[in-house]
Amino acid sequence: MVSATSYLASLMVFSVVLISIVSGKMGMTVAKVSHQNAFAIDLIQCDTTKGCNPYAGDTDCNTRLPVLCKQTDKSPRPAYAMECTTDYAMPKEFYCGWTMGYIATTPKVAASSFSTIRDVDAYCEDAFGPGWVTAEFHDSRYIPGMNGATYANAQWTQWGASHGNNYPSGGWRYYSYGNVRNDTRFWMDINDQPTTCWSR
Ligand SMILES: *[C@@H]1O[C@H](CO)[C@@H](O)[C@H](O)[C@H]1NC(C)=O
Repeated sequence: MVSATSYLASLMVFSVVLISIVSGKMGMTVAKVSHQNAFAIDLIQCDTTKGCNPYAGDTDCNTRLPVLCKQTDKSPRPAYAMECTTDYAMPKEFYCGWTMGYIATTPKVAASSFSTIRDVDAYCEDAFGPGWVTAEFHDSRYIPGMNGATYANAQWTQWGASHGNNYPSGGWRYYSYGNVRNDTRFWMDINDQPTTCWSR
């Protein structure tokens, strides 16, 4: 005979499992905006008008989507033109930053299958090799006044050398070497919001 307490306990466990399957935590996803062949770069954006929500999440964590991964190798910024011309909460260059490396997307995976960010990083490494980890919302770097050739290539590196290689971090949208798919959104990490499907 099943005691009332153990019956209640199993009912609670069942409910918790059911809630996590049915209501599902929401994670943040981003998408590719465009590619520039001349520089071999992609523009990636968390576009709130297209559903990206870093504060509440936008996609059920049980959804199967590629993970956006990155490998930063200190590549200087190529001379792409600054499309960002308006200062919002941050200077305009913040929204047109540079990852200093590469991005790529994994096969689709339910983000709920990852326990911590280490698991997501390992998934990136499995897919692309050592040095590849999960892309993060603030990966980009910028130099105030950068535009086209100004603070690109050698000038980018020189500015870094005279600033302790302390390039300010950007957010929301960025340029990176890569040419990822544009037919789906991607899971991305964000290190200062609760909208990741994994813990830190
Ligand atoms: C998606 O990428 C393909 C091939 O790279 C390109 O032909 C197409 O125009 C892109 N679609 C959008 C909506 O940008």
